[in-house]
Amino acid sequence: MKAFGVVAGSAVIPSFAGAKERMEKLELAANPLHKQLDKPVTVITIGAGARGNIYGDFAAEYPDKMDIIGVAEPIAIRNERYAKKHNIPENNRFKTWEDVFKQPKFADAVIISTPDNLHYAPCMAALKAGYDILLEKPISPSEKECRDILQLAKKTGRIVAVCHVLRYAPYFMRLRELMQSGAIGEVVSIQHFEPIQHAHMAHSYVRGNWHNSKESTPIILAKSCHDLDIIKWMLGKRAQKIQAFGNLKWFKKENAPSGSTERCTDGCAVEKNCPYSAIRIYFEERQRQYAFDLPDDKEKHGEAIMNYLRTGNYGRCVYKMDNDQCDHYVTNMLFEDGITASFSMEAFTPWGDRRTRVMGSMGYIEGDMEKYTIYDFRTKQSKTVDAKTVEVENYKNEGHGGGDWRLVDDWLQAVAQQNPALLTSTIDASIESHVMGFMAEKSRKNNSVQNIKL
Ligand SMILES: NC(=O)c1ccc[n+]([C@@H]2O[C@H](COP(=O)([O-])OP(=O)(O)OC[C@H]3O[C@@H](n4cnc5c(N)ncnc54)[C@H](O)[C@@H]3O)[C@@H](O)[C@H]2O)c1
Repeated sequence: MKAFGVVAGSAVIPSFAGAKERMEKLELAANPLHKQLDKPVTVITIGAGARGNIYGDFAAEYPDKMDIIGVAEPIAIRNERYAKKHNIPENNRFKTWEDVFKQPKFADAVIISTPDNLHYAPCMAALKAGYDILLEKPISPSEKECRDILQLAKKTGRIVAVCHVLRYAPYFMRLRELMQSGAIGEVVSIQHFEPIQHAHMAHSYVRGNWHNSKESTPIILAKSCHDLDIIKWMLGKRAQKIQAFGNLKWFKKENAPSGSTERCTDGCAVEKNCPYSAIRIYFEERQRQYAFDLPDDKEKHGEAIMNYLRTGNYGRCVYKMDNDQCDHYVTNMLFEDGITASFSMEAFTPWGDRRTRVMGSMGYIEGDMEKYTIYDFRTKQSKTVDAKTVEVENYKNEGHGGGDWRLVDDWLQAVAQQNPALLTSTIDASIESHVMGFMAEKSRKNNSVQNIKL
């Protein structure tokens, strides 16, 4: 297991005495509810940024399943590129989401992939107009707005799929199956770990779109609603209580090294040795290029990136931002039947990809999204399963353990068949883990244990 001894507060896992190791490939049966579609589902994308493009690319790969016929996006170059990629007619291109709903309904469904604080209004408008919806998480930064969307979805009977993409990742689907089938006896507790990875943290939650929790969403929802959700979903139990600690420890002005400047491009004295150097991350290593609207001519990318670093947030010193997101966050949870779970979100790791350990009365599972090992206390047998290959074999996009495109596929089937049972993350199935996030934040701020009430 990749560096498995690092979960906060726990010891390195001892080897399983006498265990005989076998290695298998994860195989997933095709979903029997999927049907050949007579015609593709027609879709309007609202917000053609990073996520809008990931979901949109599914249509480019499977035009018989999804046809993107409209877009709303205020950034001209994104709007232009999206329209070109999907062959969207001029009269179906809009600057902002409001314009879409000024037209009579002209597609089966909408994808809402706007910034966090712009989910609620387009979602409510789409429900009123009769669209089915693929809604990015978080549902909304406000608990009341989440509940409003749920209510209106129930009233209108429309399908709202929340982008809890991990529920569609074969690895987590299998872990859930094992946990709920009694493969390790009764599940007693879970330890779940989300290593954000230090440069990813700096990108998204120090410099980037989610650096300010008040303008976007607190990190427990912005990043870790996936984790609270996957823990809850795998257990298949109601959450009863939650408690949290966390703070912003490192990315602060008082930790700025001497000689550091406002921007990495300002002649910073420590830039060459700084792990958060924007020049290293974006220019030299060309990481996270999706954050920039780069010219078609690749020769010009370097110059364009440097311009962004000289003028935009991605070039600013990580110690001198107006950021407030926690860079470490721990929560404890109590579920029905006395099951406990601990979750730790950490910025300061060399790698990403979630790690999970599940303790059962008759066995134990540990995994890192690439593979998992299941141990049986009764037989002293263990088996390691490679979960990586199944994503690649079935879909070309591996995002979120293969969950990104599997979600789109299931959502399209749900819309085409008008059957929400094809989805595991409908709004009513997703609301509880959002409430857990809101309550975790309340606990962290009030130093209290919070009850989870639906
Ligand atoms: N499911 C996941 O795992 C996952 C991962 C990353 C982000 N997200 C969520 O997806 C959403 C989008 O994130 P992103 O990374 O694609 O951000 P992004 O900034 O790349 O894309 C958002 C797009 O919305 C556009 N937009 C802004 N105002 C608009 C308006 N009035 N009408 C139409 N479009 C408008 C922006 O110009 C931008 O292009 C966020 O809520 C984010 O939290 C989810």
